[in-house]
Amino acid sequence: MTDDRDPSVSTTDGFPSGSGGHDPEVLRQRALDALLTARARTATLTDSVDDGELTAQHSPLMSPLVWDLAHIGNQEEQWLLRAVGGREALRPEIDGLYDAFEHPRAARPSLPLLAPAEARTYASDVRGRALDILEGAPLHEGGRPLERAGFAFGMIAQHEQQHDETMLITHQLRTGPVALTAPAPPAPTDADALPAEVLVPGGPFTMGTSAEPWALDNERPAHRREVAAFHLDTAPVTCGAYRRFIEDGGYTDPRWWAPEGWDLVREHDLAAPLFWHRDAGQWLRRRFGVTEPVPDDEPVLHVSWYEADAYARWAGRRLPTEAEWEKAARHDPATGRSLRYPWGDTDPTPEQANLGQRHLRPARAGAYPAGRAPSGAGQLIGDVWEWTSSDFLPYPGFVAFPYREYSDVFFGPGHKVLRGGSFAVDQVACRGTFRNWDLPVRRQIFSGFRTARDA
Ligand code: AVJ
Ligand code: FE
Repeated sequence: MTDDRDPSVSTTDGFPSGSGGHDPEVLRQRALDALLTARARTATLTDSVDDGELTAQHSPLMSPLVWDLAHIGNQEEQWLLRAVGGREALRPEIDGLYDAFEHPRAARPSLPLLAPAEARTYASDVRGRALDILEGAPLHEGGRPLERAGFAFGMIAQHEQQHDETMLITHQLRTGPVALTAPAPPAPTDADALPAEVLVPGGPFTMGTSAEPWALDNERPAHRREVAAFHLDTAPVTCGAYRRFIEDGGYTDPRWWAPEGWDLVREHDLAAPLFWHRDAGQWLRRRFGVTEPVPDDEPVLHVSWYEADAYARWAGRRLPTEAEWEKAARHDPATGRSLRYPWGDTDPTPEQANLGQRHLRPARAGAYPAGRAPSGAGQLIGDVWEWTSSDFLPYPGFVAFPYREYSDVFFGPGHKVLRGGSFAVDQVACRGTFRNWDLPVRRQIFSGFRTARDA
């Protein structure tokens, strides 16, 4: 992990003092809460379908849900029981089955996976032991890097929540009776009064973090970035705006598309976001087993990077860079500091952001006024992951920790960065510095975007 003690960095990137930020007992409680929250979510996602559906492959793009369940337990065993706790392997013979690099998703259903009951018992045995280890682990500053500030426990809670988002994608792809429902997110209150875009003035800001205790390796270290003035959409691009792109022939005009994007459109006959179809002149979408009219004022979901890029070009705009996105989300011109979240340094509340699968859809554009950034942009955290124009690259001074396969092996031009989190991700795995990435062709993920232009 990187050094937190460089004063020139910590003044602009401080974990809030007075919040008990690095107090080992506060972090022990946070770790316990985060692990329990993740497991409750995992249980909802895996108990809501029968064993046949747990072991089925709902899409060649995804693992069977029972693979995610045992993989969650296996990662927890490797990092909390073996690496932190020094314990022997519970079931060394299964490690290979749950190694994401050994078996591609499409091949996972034919592996001799643990059956649903076995996978549940395994994950809960691991969890019982992990909580014993958490109780006695020294989480103080001078300790071992994995334990310091409870990092490994926070990392494993984030890992489980990331797979909970993956499992929700599998739920969205599955067909059959409705398994999950949730109340609608809050409606906007002042959307009509909002400007279409905000101006973010030029100048340097602090990108990334060296202070956030559970920030993953790719978010580190904090460093200064120069960002020229630009305009950014106040809210993510809506389904209604995207529909106008479709109706203007967006998918039939190569002018708007990157060459590989145009190839993709023709190869797969793309004509709309994934899960949309047209019926009797109306656009409908399937969402967690329910078919409903596409809501014009909701952020568009399930678009690839190529579709986001093409829309932006059609609109006479462009995608924001990753640095622009983070400056709009975190830079506080009043203090010159970068905030943990758009609204400040405090953890998200349900009034500030649509996170954690509380709602199974994004809120309408303009919602969450309490979550807006000093720049005036809203819904940066939660709702939909936002494609940026940037490739996934290491920050200057990056050090892989604790394993290269988390970030390091994915750096390069093949993956594009997404920012801000979706309604499907939990707050433990979402903050102003959090970086997600995926292939530019991906559209089953909970991805949307907003657009920008030079000032
Ligand atoms: C950061 C979401 C791209 O799901 O591939 C889960 C997270 N890494 N297990 C993924 C992850 C290892 C990762 N993403
Ligand atoms: Fe994983």
